[in-house]
Amino acid sequence: MFENLTPQPADKILALMQMYREDPRDTKIDLGVGVYKNAQGHTPIMRAIKAAEKQVWDVQDSKSYTGLAGDPAFGDLMVKLVLGDALAREQVAAVATPGGTGAVRQGFELARLANPNVRVFVSNPTWPNHMSILKYLGIETITYRYFDETTCAVDFDGMMADLQNVRAGDLVLLHGCCHNPTGANLNAAEWQAVVEVLNRKGAIPMIDIAYQGFGDGLEEDAAATRMVAASVPECLIAASCSKNFGVYRERTGILMAISNDASLKGVMQGNLNFLNRQNYSFPPDHGARIVSTILHTPELRADWAAELEEVRLSMLGLRTQLASELQKLSGSDRFAFIAQHRGMFSRLGASPEHVERLRAEHAIYMVGDSRLNIAGLNAQSVPILAKAIIDVGI
Ligand code: LMR
Repeated sequence: MFENLTPQPADKILALMQMYREDPRDTKIDLGVGVYKNAQGHTPIMRAIKAAEKQVWDVQDSKSYTGLAGDPAFGDLMVKLVLGDALAREQVAAVATPGGTGAVRQGFELARLANPNVRVFVSNPTWPNHMSILKYLGIETITYRYFDETTCAVDFDGMMADLQNVRAGDLVLLHGCCHNPTGANLNAAEWQAVVEVLNRKGAIPMIDIAYQGFGDGLEEDAAATRMVAASVPECLIAASCSKNFGVYRERTGILMAISNDASLKGVMQGNLNFLNRQNYSFPPDHGARIVSTILHTPELRADWAAELEEVRLSMLGLRTQLASELQKLSGSDRFAFIAQHRGMFSRLGASPEHVERLRAEHAIYMVGDSRLNIAGLNAQSVPILAKAIIDVGI
């Protein structure tokens, strides 16, 4: 049977990681995959994670199965972290998932269970794996305009024009904060306008929130998600702990399904549990347990939030530094958007040829669509990147 297999297309982000590893140049700079790195280029384990792991090791006396939805405490604490007081816990059906990707996949599958002909609207561009999973599931996907390549800001008029085409029952995928790959985000008034059109058309928002705490702060980054969840009849939310808790390899995430019809909660929860059972049975627990230990232990939570804030501010500092270096070298403000973007990524709006020249001539690795991971920089490499950007003619 295996002779029938055909090669799968390489994931662009993962292929770039591999190329970077194989590059022998010691001056190489990795601005590819979305992993936080400190000034030394290391992805550290957060202090609170280390402490919580120790606590879990001390008190955990069994590795027997959790429930299909995962540890209930994790569900309660994550719903609170993402939704704050916008909704009561009773209104939210939720399952733990293997990372944010697991949540995204289960969200699409739940939508398809509810509506086998569901169409999913996604921003152009979006995280490439959104497209790949949708294609794999055979779900019809339609893009809406999102990014203006010239201004490197949100093309809000284009987005609104395209969202006029959504129909009742369509799912509209939105990034809760820190849009990946562009770094360009909607403001509060724009979010309101999006909700208004979705409600008018009867479309359902699905929010992917993978970078809460990386943009403007933990509460600020969740504000749009909370507003949407409180303003629509139904929505899905896929949240990741990979980045804000730095537990990438533990695969820790959650999918929430919300309806204002309380009588549907049971069947929603049952379907979420069913999907977990079909796909991998019980969700991974170690990362979830560490996260819930942090969230319910006041000292650990305070220390985690403080370290996350250090991470956020360091990325903001690098953004400002890069924008000002480029201002100096180019003698123009055309790179000012880098300081305005939020989260880990900025899309430069450069051509694939420019990106290739950065890699070939300067050993600087960014994704082919000119997405750069700000956290891959440090104070020393910012001027090197700025000079290379001008050098290749971006
Ligand atoms: C990214 O966009 O680089 C991250 O979300 C990592 C990944 O899995 O692609």
